[in-house]
Amino acid sequence: SKGGFPHFMLKEIFDQPKVLRDCMRGRLFAKTSDEEKRSGRNNDVNDNDVVLSAVKNNKDRLMSAKRFIIVACGTSWHAGLIGKQLIERYCQIPVEVDYASEFRYRDPIIYPTDVVIAISQSGETADTLAAIELAKSKGACVFGIVNAVGSSIARQTDTGIYIHVGPEIGVASTKAFTGQLTCLTLLALCLGHCKGTISKDEYDEMIQELAVIPDKMEQVLKLNDAIKTISRTYTYATNFLYLGRGWNYPVALEGALKLKEISYIHAEGYPAAEMKHGPIALVDDRMPVLFVATHHKQYQKIVSNMEEVKARGGHIIAIITEGDTEIPKIANECIEVPQTLAPLAPLLTVIPLQLLAYHVAVCKGLNVDQPRNLAKSVTVE
Ligand code: F6R
Repeated sequence: SKGGFPHFMLKEIFDQPKVLRDCMRGRLFAKTSDEEKRSGRNNDVNDNDVVLSAVKNNKDRLMSAKRFIIVACGTSWHAGLIGKQLIERYCQIPVEVDYASEFRYRDPIIYPTDVVIAISQSGETADTLAAIELAKSKGACVFGIVNAVGSSIARQTDTGIYIHVGPEIGVASTKAFTGQLTCLTLLALCLGHCKGTISKDEYDEMIQELAVIPDKMEQVLKLNDAIKTISRTYTYATNFLYLGRGWNYPVALEGALKLKEISYIHAEGYPAAEMKHGPIALVDDRMPVLFVATHHKQYQKIVSNMEEVKARGGHIIAIITEGDTEIPKIANECIEVPQTLAPLAPLLTVIPLQLLAYHVAVCKGLNVDQPRNLAKSVTVE
């Protein structure tokens, strides 16, 4: 059931805080404050921890991996790009991210010391399944991050974790994406902790912050009406550019994909610094540019990119951190998300992009839950 929402997609966007709590239940243990302990609440939690039985039961294999290779398609591949950054940072293991369709036909080099991570919502994507079979035939260990319980991919993988965000009905993937990011974060933290490649301070800080992400998502969802209003301005657009850097670069790709698939507006996602190597030639007053520009490491760099777009008459929408006073002077529209740690920013910044794509499509009178030419599970190549 749509639970009172006009479309499954909107319901699933709004489900995100709740389903992420489900995804983290029994896996993420955040230390409760002294005050809560004194008042007798949650007094069984003494320390921060991430517990994943898939890691515990395959500890040697995972800890001795020389390389991780992530294979996936579409939105799941975008999650993989963020997964690479998480695993490299916290586990100090090199990670490659491949489209399953490219990987399987390339005759890739795979060693028995590799761990292949397959990410899939449906668990039935033909190319991802074939990539897994290939990896297994070369002796690699295959770790699944899958939503559909008992699906083909879940059965074919050696081990893994379920995303646990409930069935996703809308063809455009939304809650599965944030669920995949949460699972990848848990995996990177758990493995990094076992390997000793993450400091205790960083481990604690990430756990504490991950635990409050669902609350912060609820805050972002309150922007729904404002985003609906903004969306009306953009139904005219035939092209859109989505730009981000670092942790938010894959979010730009994901936002552009959402707009393409349900609003039928051509949108390109790009790492913001690449703009001047080509796409900037497209910018004029008919080309809206969306920047995902939270207040983290590369903030000043992205502000410069924004100024370059502005100088060419481009219309700018910016996803910014609450309290930012600089970007509102440049951008035409700003959407504020709460402050969080950089590696967790995608969990918040993707939500306005999901909502924007949704409202633009609704405004254009399109079938949001079943866009033309698309199927929920791509079981053919
Ligand atoms: C986009 C979308 C697709 C899927 C892709 C992979 O909204 O839904 O790009 O992400 O077809 O599907 P799964 O994750 O089921 O393997």
